[in-house]
Amino acid sequence: MYKIAVLPGDGTGPEVIQEGLKVLDALSQKCGFKYEKVMYDLGGERYKKTGEILPDSVFNELKKVDAIYLGAVGHPDVKPGILEQGLLLKLRFGLQQYINLRPVKLYPGVWTPLKDKESKDVDFVVVRENNEGLYVGEGEFRNKGTKDEVALQVSRNTRKGVERCLRYAFEYTRKRNKRKTLTLCGKTNVLTYAWDLWERTFREIAKEYSDVKTDYAHVDATCMWMVKNPEWFDVIVTDNMFGDIITDLGAMIQGGMGIAAGGNINPGGVSMFEPIGGSAPKYTGKNVINPLAAICAGGMMLEILGEKDAADRLEKAVMEVTDKKLKSLSAGKMGYSTTEVGDLVVKHL
Ligand code: IPM
Ligand code: MN
Repeated sequence: MYKIAVLPGDGTGPEVIQEGLKVLDALSQKCGFKYEKVMYDLGGERYKKTGEILPDSVFNELKKVDAIYLGAVGHPDVKPGILEQGLLLKLRFGLQQYINLRPVKLYPGVWTPLKDKESKDVDFVVVRENNEGLYVGEGEFRNKGTKDEVALQVSRNTRKGVERCLRYAFEYTRKRNKRKTLTLCGKTNVLTYAWDLWERTFREIAKEYSDVKTDYAHVDATCMWMVKNPEWFDVIVTDNMFGDIITDLGAMIQGGMGIAAGGNINPGGVSMFEPIGGSAPKYTGKNVINPLAAICAGGMMLEILGEKDAADRLEKAVMEVTDKKLKSLSAGKMGYSTTEVGDLVVKHL
């Protein structure tokens, strides 16, 4: 019996999570695993009503669940940054989810803006460091408000943090067993402290993985190759900020935010799964948002919980639906409503 904390969150979060749960319920019937949902109303509405973002009591409960299933964070009436930092980043950091895993896979029948590329060409995974770098919130203003103002924003990279991320990436590349190539994406030519540490550690650990081929690309060049030759990539490992940026590009080449899922992984603890698209306020409550990203995030959750068979069935069903049913992955243009897409996936399980 798995205990899953469900945080539908803001905007379209609740609508897509509902479809995700519909698919998980159907799979639990078919595959024989059992799970219990614990619902939490965290997000912009609760914050507006009570001023609470993530009470300690809730945080302590979340430490004890098997996984967290998150819809979206971000509310039009709440100043940007408050919920992102107080909820999403607090969970990522507080639960030591030090990996952000983002598959970039173009499913059959899905339109990509990349000319002449098809499903077989776009299939790689980004391993983004999720607890350090520019996201630690360290820095200061000097001479604030004057014409001599300076704002410092620190990128913190610890040997331990870098090493555990790289080890995860090497292991992941080995297990994935595709092209067995791990590309370090950095900026060694300019950010000479941070990327010196990353590169040195990368080279050292690579010695333990003689079966994994290694490669290096600067982050700007990585963007270029992702568009021009995405088929070159198998697994990309990078820091928090670069990972944030290149995975939005990744989402676009795999067909858009409607399909992009991610996992915040603590390999020895509680992991959290989310569609990466955000709360999409303008589509809220209209039953038009694409729930496939949330459904795929549910699939990643099943995989981490050890329900490989269920995860495979989910992915195959999603592929059937993208290939044979949906007209587009964009909100309002799918040819089906949000709830109908959930039903279609269930039908194809
Ligand atoms: C993401 C998001 C978050 C991030 C925001 C909402 C803080 O863009 O998950 O990629 O920057 O990590
Ligand atoms: Mn992002």
